[in-house]
Amino acid sequence: MTKPHILVARAIFPETLARLAQQFEVEANPDDAIWTKAQLIERLQGKVGAFTTGSERVDTEVLAACPQLRIVANMAVGYNNFDVDAMTAAGVLATNAPDVLTETTADFGFALLMATARRVTESEHFLRAGKWTKWSYDMFAGAEVHGSTLGILGMGRIGQGIARRGAHGFGMKVIYHNRSRLSPEREAECEARYVDKEELLRTADHLVLVVPYSAASHHAIGAAELALMKRTACLVNIARGGIVDDAALAVALREKRIAAAGLDVFEGEPKVHPDLLTVPNVVLTPHIASATIPTRMAMANLAADNLIGFLTQGKPLTPLNPEVLTR
Ligand code: GLV
Repeated sequence: MTKPHILVARAIFPETLARLAQQFEVEANPDDAIWTKAQLIERLQGKVGAFTTGSERVDTEVLAACPQLRIVANMAVGYNNFDVDAMTAAGVLATNAPDVLTETTADFGFALLMATARRVTESEHFLRAGKWTKWSYDMFAGAEVHGSTLGILGMGRIGQGIARRGAHGFGMKVIYHNRSRLSPEREAECEARYVDKEELLRTADHLVLVVPYSAASHHAIGAAELALMKRTACLVNIARGGIVDDAALAVALREKRIAAAGLDVFEGEPKVHPDLLTVPNVVLTPHIASATIPTRMAMANLAADNLIGFLTQGKPLTPLNPEVLTR
């Protein structure tokens, strides 16, 4: 019996590829080349499944050119690289990789918050540049984290993980804004108070963004929102590029309209807005919030399990458009 053909669009763990190869004829990308849309379409010919990361866009053009495609499994919890409506219309199952990265990503949100508030990278650059010739009482004085007010925009699983760390670990007062309010039990567990977006912006000492990217969240933080924040506030984005207007943020940082920012995601990444590269009060990391080997392995295996489960038994683990299954 011939095995179904699938495409693995980026380099992944050899162990995951080996698991997939037991079930499928796999075309892989061992050189980890970044393909154009035309190259992706070319490689998808004859494939019923695809393993993607957030960098491969699956839209109407790709779907129309690949009528045999039945499932695309994303090795990411975010799936703004998918046009899910178009996939549903084309009868193509979309899956993502939730849950397995929640705690690791919340850890990183806190790492970035701490590094930003306490000016860790800025002071390291100073030291490495040989500028540390004497200690002084106010050198790299930053913002308090413990006991301060932590604001969270987007209170899904990762947002709740950050809230728990802030409330239980750092004695922070936690406020949040989300499309829908958490249950009273969940709010109590996270010690988090629901507020409107304006109160969140005005009150937070540290604002962490964990909201999914969509047309509705595009530039949710722009010049007007930054103007509402405290001049002493720190902003942390571990969600997606495009949620923050990076050009407006660079201006706000340069003019010290907010104290500092920590960014793991960028509009048009891996390109970074040039103005962000020249302001000192920003910590910049290359989209690594879920980057530990056990977590990345769990994400890769979940994407693989979605392909295996669906293509061998019609049972994916984490479908985004389950209505496709009942057609
Ligand atoms: C990472 O950004 C993810 O969505 O998993």
